[in-house]
Amino acid sequence: MRICVIGTGYVGLVTAACLSHIGHLVVGVDVNRRKIARLREGLSPIYEPGLERLLRVQMAAGRLAFSEDVESAIVEADAVLIAVGTPPRVDGHVDLRHIEAVLQTLKRAFERVAERTMRLVVSKSTVPVGTARWMAEWFRTSSLGSQVLVVSNPEFLREGNAVHDCLYPDRIIVGAEDARAVPLVHQLYRPILEQTFPTPDYIPPRPDGLRHVPLLWMDWDSAEMAKYASNAFLALKISFANEIANICERVGADVLRVMEAVGLDHRIGPHYLRAGIGWGGSCLGKDLLALIRLAEHIGYDPALLRAAYATNVAQRRIVIEKLRAALGSLEGRTIGLLGLAFKPNTDDIRDAPSMAIARALQDAGARVKVYDPVAMENAKAEHPDLALSYAVDPIDLARECDALVLVTEWEEFRHLDLAALRRVMRGDLLLDGRNLFDPEHARRAGFTYMGIGRAVSASRAHGAG
Ligand SMILES: NC(=O)c1ccc[n+]([C@@H]2O[C@H](COP(=O)([O-])OP(=O)(O)OC[C@H]3O[C@@H](n4cnc5c(N)ncnc54)[C@H](O)[C@@H]3O)[C@@H](O)[C@H]2O)c1
Repeated sequence: MRICVIGTGYVGLVTAACLSHIGHLVVGVDVNRRKIARLREGLSPIYEPGLERLLRVQMAAGRLAFSEDVESAIVEADAVLIAVGTPPRVDGHVDLRHIEAVLQTLKRAFERVAERTMRLVVSKSTVPVGTARWMAEWFRTSSLGSQVLVVSNPEFLREGNAVHDCLYPDRIIVGAEDARAVPLVHQLYRPILEQTFPTPDYIPPRPDGLRHVPLLWMDWDSAEMAKYASNAFLALKISFANEIANICERVGADVLRVMEAVGLDHRIGPHYLRAGIGWGGSCLGKDLLALIRLAEHIGYDPALLRAAYATNVAQRRIVIEKLRAALGSLEGRTIGLLGLAFKPNTDDIRDAPSMAIARALQDAGARVKVYDPVAMENAKAEHPDLALSYAVDPIDLARECDALVLVTEWEEFRHLDLAALRRVMRGDLLLDGRNLFDPEHARRAGFTYMGIGRAVSASRAHGAG
């Protein structure tokens, strides 16, 4: 199939690369000219493991191209995938301005072609319930009539594992209300549904036993709701773990042992139960808030969802409270943040706890030093208002710090020489915001260790010291 992917961000770019890998001819388009220029040189504008290699292979094979001429790419395509951003407005409702702009572009492009062929428009962006219905109605009442088939196809990939998730999804959800979309969607996803595409060494290996990916057909509204419900549940799970951690700390239990026990219950499962300083990123907070606003809008009080959101806001503040408890006033203190990305293996800092913590520390009069393997350029570009000192490596970060805060659990941080960090610091406090380190190991390296919900380990460490 000839495919046009509109928006070459975290979702669109990975989707474009993966669809070309499974055999389609794909053109990725974007209004951001800098992104397209970079992509044309075979350089990925985002950090996503394995993506750049895949892009280059597909571009060299002639199956993948990038263009800023959005309309022409649309005209040439059998299917158009929309993957533009749907950021939150200040009131928490979804800002649909990019979707609206895309609709206008689609209409102009489709009207350019004299013959009225059927077009598949696939909405991958996360949009409020009712958006696909509204889009379809918008096309139906335009000059295009019913030649445009709108399907809702929410995306579930995780940044940092995006290529894997795109090629080996747990399920593909399609909201459609016109049977003519069925063969086209099958054609689009067949190699993924049947797992028939090749897996060369630059592709994450196929999970053992995966032979078939379920495709769930449903109405537009249910498909859109399924995306919000999934993200709300993930947010709820993490907030639950964090709340349990806060209680563990006060009663002397260790949240790691508690959640290990809880997660082995097959009705619950081990994922998304890691306590820490809260979730972030471009999706969980935005989508949870959008669902809360949607519920409120229809007169329903989403008490559980609001609590999950509030727990997360409070969890970020715990860092400041713990630092104050250990150091007293933060005025004039130097605090080093290990990690800025909202999670490992991405350079994404949208709604990252690191930024909220840095701002709070700065407001409290502290000097904030930061280090992240890949996210520092984004932090500089997106938060020029923060007076952060950017370190070149973890040792440079630790120099003269009163305390280090582990914010992002990058794998390379797990193997840090803690004693070497401690030696160049002024103070001895290590606040492990992701419970990455072994408390005993940190203590032996000379640190006063504080985790999240690890009262037992922490007090033992102090006691032994
Ligand atoms: N990032 C994720 O992990 C993730 C996962 C699942 C779903 N989603 C959803 O997918 C959507 C995209 O998210 P993202 O993280 O890829 O966003 P992003 O901001 O990384 O990318 C969006 C891209 O769309 C481009 N764009 C905006 N308006 C355009 C227009 N009119 N024409 C062409 N290009 C345009 C932007 O320049 C940008 O490059 C959102 O709705 C998001 O909620 C994201």
